[in-house]
Parts: sequence; C-alpha cells; structure tokens
Amino acid sequence: MVTGASRGLGARLAALVADRGARVALVARSQDPIAKLAADLGGDAYPADLAEAEGITELVRRIAADGPIDVLVNNAGLDLTGTFTELASERICELIMVNLLAPMLMSRAAIPYMRTQARGHIVNVSSLAGTNALPGLVPYSTSKAGLSHFTASLRAELKGTPITTTLVEIGPVDSTMMESLRVHEPTRRALQRLETLHLAADLDMDRVAVSLVEAIEHGRRHVRLPRRDAVFPLFTETPRRLTEWLLTGLDPE
Ligand SMILES: NC(=O)c1ccc[n+]([C@@H]2O[C@H](COP(=O)([O-])OP(=O)(O)OC[C@H]3O[C@@H](n4cnc5c(N)ncnc54)[C@H](OP(=O)(O)O)[C@@H]3O)[C@@H](O)[C@H]2O)c1
Repeated sequence: MVTGASRGLGARLAALVADRGARVALVARSQDPIAKLAADLGGDAYPADLAEAEGITELVRRIAADGPIDVLVNNAGLDLTGTFTELASERICELIMVNLLAPMLMSRAAIPYMRTQARGHIVNVSSLAGTNALPGLVPYSTSKAGLSHFTASLRAELKGTPITTTLVEIGPVDSTMMESLRVHEPTRRALQRLETLHLAADLDMDRVAVSLVEAIEHGRRHVRLPRRDAVFPLFTETPRRLTEWLLTGLDPE
C-alpha cells in the first residue's frame, strides 16, 4: 500500500514496486490519477482523504480485505510555508494530521493484519527537515520530527515481532513540493545558503524511489539521502540507537 500515490515520489515508487511484481494499493485524494495508475500497474485505487482520521481504520480494513498488506508506505505529505503566526490554524492542523497522525493511525490499523499474517513492513517517508530546523517550515518540520521519532519508538515496540520498519529521511527532491517551499523568501534564502555550503542539492526522484525499493527488499531500517547530509539525522538517531542497545544489551537484574 502506497499513500500519496497520485503523483511525485509515491507514484514513482508504486510503478517501481509493481514492476518488481507487487500488487499495489494506491491511496490519494485525486481519484482519476490513481485510477489510471492502478489500471496501468494492475493494482487497485482507493481514493481517500487522510486528513479525515475517522476514515482510516475502514480504509485499511477495505484494502486488507482485498489482499494482504505486506508493505505499508506512509508517503502522503503536505507542505505549508510561511511565517508561523500568520498560518491559518486549520491548515496547521490539517498538515499535522496528514503528515504525522495519518501515518500513526495507518500503522495502528495495519499492524493487527500484519501480526495475523506473520509478516509486514512499514515505511515512513520523513525528511531532513525533521532534523534541520529552517525558517518558514515550522509545522512541516515539526510533523517530520514527530514522524521520525514515531518510527523509532514503534520499531522498539515491534522488536521480536515479524514486523519491521524503514525510516526515510531525505533532503530536497526535484519536485513541485520544493517549488512551493521556495515561494517564501526566508525559506528560499535558507535553502540557498545550504546549497552554497554544499549541504543541500535537489535529489533525483527516481534515485530516491530506487533506494526505497531496495530498502524494502533488503529490510533496511534507514534511508538517508543525500548521503553527505546523513550526519544531521545521525545526531538525532544516536540517542535512539543507544537506548535500543541499552534495552537489549544490558540486563538490569
Ligand atoms: N519533495 C521533497 O523535496 C521532499 C523532501 C523530503 C521529504 N519529502 C516527503 O516525501 C513525500 C512525497 O513528497 P512529494 O514530493 O512526492 O510530494 P507531492 O508531489 O506533493 O505528492 C504528495 C502526495 O500526497 C498526497 N496527499 C496530500 N494530502 C493528502 C491527503 N489529505 N489525503 C491523501 N493523500 C494526500 C497527494 O495526493 P492528492 O493531492 O491527490 O491527495 C500526493 O499524491 C512527502 O511525505 C514529503 O513530505 C519530500
């Protein structure tokens, strides 16, 4: 199951996994693009608005009824750029719902099916914005920081079960999302400064999609791109890994 499959990274990823033999369930609000892609890929389209929390359990139930959910890719995401105090509170709530709460609720709904079938993998598409704090991106960065920590916490809870996770932390991708982020001048300047320091450059979307497929196939726990920026998420990942090691490596008794 791939959420946010109507365009961008989700659509590329869906095409790649279908090409490798998977039957894909495509989720997004835009009915026509996912219906067309599903027809092309021999998959199924499930139009849904992930900003509506109450529909998520039923959505997952319908998809699971049509076939096993072996891999859940929480890729759907919204961007919102602007001065924090000037952003409409409804748009902040919608962003936190789609980027953070929906992946949590999708995972919560899918895990019981994965337990029953004794296999499952959850991929959460986060961002380097979850570790690097840039002006103009307060709700977006907060949602992605939450998604990264959710993935680490869920992984700890799922330890010893056949359900695994991949956390995807990527920098700017050549996409319409990046174009809209650059409309806000403080964000554009911050991104430009990172680019001048060779700490950011737009990633090729196909390359990101291929890395995600490889991570799914090999059960990798992390995708961090571009590689030279991996140091930033490593700083936030270190205490999580240390806790994991302490919990499994030491016997307090
Ligand atoms: N682009 C980047 O530079 C970049 C960098 C780091 C991380 N990311 C993350 O990568 C993921 C994909 O990004 P992208 O560049 O491919 O974005 P995109 O082109 O804007 O696509 C976003 C997808 O999410 C879906 N979506 C948005 N709101 C939704 C809702 N309420 N319910 C259901 N689906 C919804 C959209 O479909 P509909 O509009 O049809 O609903 C679309 O398919 C996102 O999570 C993003 O935060 C992107």
